[in-house]
Amino acid sequence: MQESNIPLHIGLIMDGNGRWAKKRLMPRSFGHNSGMNAMIKVADRAKERGVKYLTVYTLSTENLNRPKEELEGLYDLFRGYFTKNVQKLYKKGAGVKVIGDISVLPQDVQKLLSDGVENSPEDADFTLIFAINYGARSEILRAVNTAVERGEKLDGKGLEALLYTAGIPDPDLIIRTGGEKRLSNFLAYQSAYAELYFTDVLFPDFDGNELDKALEEYACRERRFGKV
Ligand code: FPP
Repeated sequence: MQESNIPLHIGLIMDGNGRWAKKRLMPRSFGHNSGMNAMIKVADRAKERGVKYLTVYTLSTENLNRPKEELEGLYDLFRGYFTKNVQKLYKKGAGVKVIGDISVLPQDVQKLLSDGVENSPEDADFTLIFAINYGARSEILRAVNTAVERGEKLDGKGLEALLYTAGIPDPDLIIRTGGEKRLSNFLAYQSAYAELYFTDVLFPDFDGNELDKALEEYACRERRFGKV
């Protein structure tokens, strides 16, 4: 694969953790835990392949309505990731960012996330972006309301500067695991020209080799951006 055919930014909808756990007669939290391990492997492979940004959909605004027990399990995963695993990422020259409204999360989780972002290397050659309590519609509404409050008339650049993703290039490729073929309120504005890749593989089974399959298909797609 030539470097020019590698997406600069991949968005990843990590679906299928619950079904994966159910098949094994295990609780959903077991599926999310295995999903986190899959995410770590996929991030490593993406970095190795020359991808610069990987945005992972860890919690949507809609997911916040899930049972308290499941949310607590996810918060524990954040606690674990942002105390242990993030250090390994830094050692590899990579960093993290967070997009979404994290103000509703437990205080200690908010602090771990902000520290994780702050302690990231300045010259990171790979950034793992966590979408947490993220929804594209609320992201756009938030940006528009900020502009209205400021009495500002927005153009494309102005709007982009007010999105959570300000300064991050648009995703070139969106991958969704778990069989559904929709974006579910993920990076709706930014993915206007992204290539979409859907796979039936449940997220805990999605690994570096599955990522390579998506990259191979991406490399064969012709991107015209509306031109002939
Ligand atoms: C959707 O699958 C997945 C989520 C709501 C959470 C994804 C989170 C992870 C993979 C863990 C990420 C890492 C950290 C550090 C928190 P689902 O449970 O809706 O699956 P289903 O459609 O089979 O029920």
